Amino acid sequence: MSEIPSTMLGWVKAEDRPDGFLQKELPVPVPKHGEVLVKTHSTSICGTDLHIWKWDEWSRANVDLGTVTGHETCGTIIGVGEGVEDRIGEQVSIECHIACWACPRCEEGNAHVCENGSIFGVHKHGAFAPYFCVPSINARTNPSDLSLPLASIQDPLGNAIHTLTGGPVEGSTIAIHGLGPIGLFSVMVAKMMGAEKIIAVDWDNKFRMDLATRLGADVVLGKDDDVVRSILEQTDGRGVDNSCEFSGSPEAIKNAIRSTRMGGYLNVLSVYGNELIDIPMNDIVFRYLHLKGINGRKMWGTWEKMHALFSAGFDPSPIITHRFPYHDFKKAMKIVSDGNCGKVILEFEVD
Ligand SMILES: NC(=O)c1ccc[n+]([C@@H]2O[C@H](COP(=O)([O-])OP(=O)(O)OC[C@H]3O[C@@H](n4cnc5c(N)ncnc54)[C@H](O)[C@@H]3O)[C@@H](O)[C@H]2O)c1
Ligand SMILES: [Zn+2]
Ligand SMILES: [Zn+2]
Repeated sequence: MSEIPSTMLGWVKAEDRPDGFLQKELPVPVPKHGEVLVKTHSTSICGTDLHIWKWDEWSRANVDLGTVTGHETCGTIIGVGEGVEDRIGEQVSIECHIACWACPRCEEGNAHVCENGSIFGVHKHGAFAPYFCVPSINARTNPSDLSLPLASIQDPLGNAIHTLTGGPVEGSTIAIHGLGPIGLFSVMVAKMMGAEKIIAVDWDNKFRMDLATRLGADVVLGKDDDVVRSILEQTDGRGVDNSCEFSGSPEAIKNAIRSTRMGGYLNVLSVYGNELIDIPMNDIVFRYLHLKGINGRKMWGTWEKMHALFSAGFDPSPIITHRFPYHDFKKAMKIVSDGNCGKVILEFEVD
């Protein structure tokens, strides 16, 4: 492996406007105590990166100008800070939730919602750059049967698994609202976990709706369908056991509330561009719904479930539709904004 350079070209959210990204020369970071330095192999683009690109209300409140964003990533450990031993050369993928490991939430096993937590690539510099530092514990060793080019998708795949398993899956009826990459991963995971029926819903993204059919969705609905009525018809009038909301659309969450069975589960991962939306509250009450917000991945239960899926032969490659060299970040963001894609990956120069 070549020597570590002192500077690198990284993508920085630099300007207070939609897009607003500049490729800048930056120092290669030096790992602090407990951290590792990773040479980036690939970084995939997340729905959250699209929010930052669009510079919506949520992004303006959460991302400082000057941040290197990008958090779904994998690479090779090439340096370690004090207190970290024996990790050079390991191939790792990153858990982007950085936890304190000492607060009550961390102690009860909910480090993904650590009271002092922050997000790599949102609140701190991330991985739209050729090198980055993270706490050693956040660099998860890749399963040996997972090829490195696919490894960056463990963050969104983990989101899908965490959301889906917020309710019953095996032998259950499932509705997936929003067929972005995480919704598509959920279709695949629900199929692999033995769901009885999978109803996949998007608005008008034909590319993704067709992909959902190929991935094994039993029914695919869109804007021309009466979503609530169709889901009720598909479930003997009851509604599905488990609804997952991945669209960020106020319309979709209303549909999900009204098409989940009595006492069913509604798990919401989406980030909504505007915080305040109208929802049919009495439906939640009278339908006795378990409504759960989902954030990140359980550390490390979700990662263990995901690695078990890989061992059982789970292959995420049909969802990875585009790869770009990292200098073409803006081209890649344009594809992500247009939405005619599954997962889009930026590839870095590797030795
Ligand atoms: N909470 C977390 O930890 C976390 C982590 C990652 C992503 N997210 C959020 O999860 C969501 C999903 O991300 P993604 O990248 O998979 O998807 P995305 O944002 O790329 O795609 C959303 C999809 O929803 C579809 N859609 C729009 N209106 C709809 C409607 N009324 N009904 C059904 N579908 C509709 C769109 O056509 C699109 O295909 C985003 O909001 C993202 O910000 C949350
Ligand atoms: Zn993400
Ligand atoms: Zn904590």
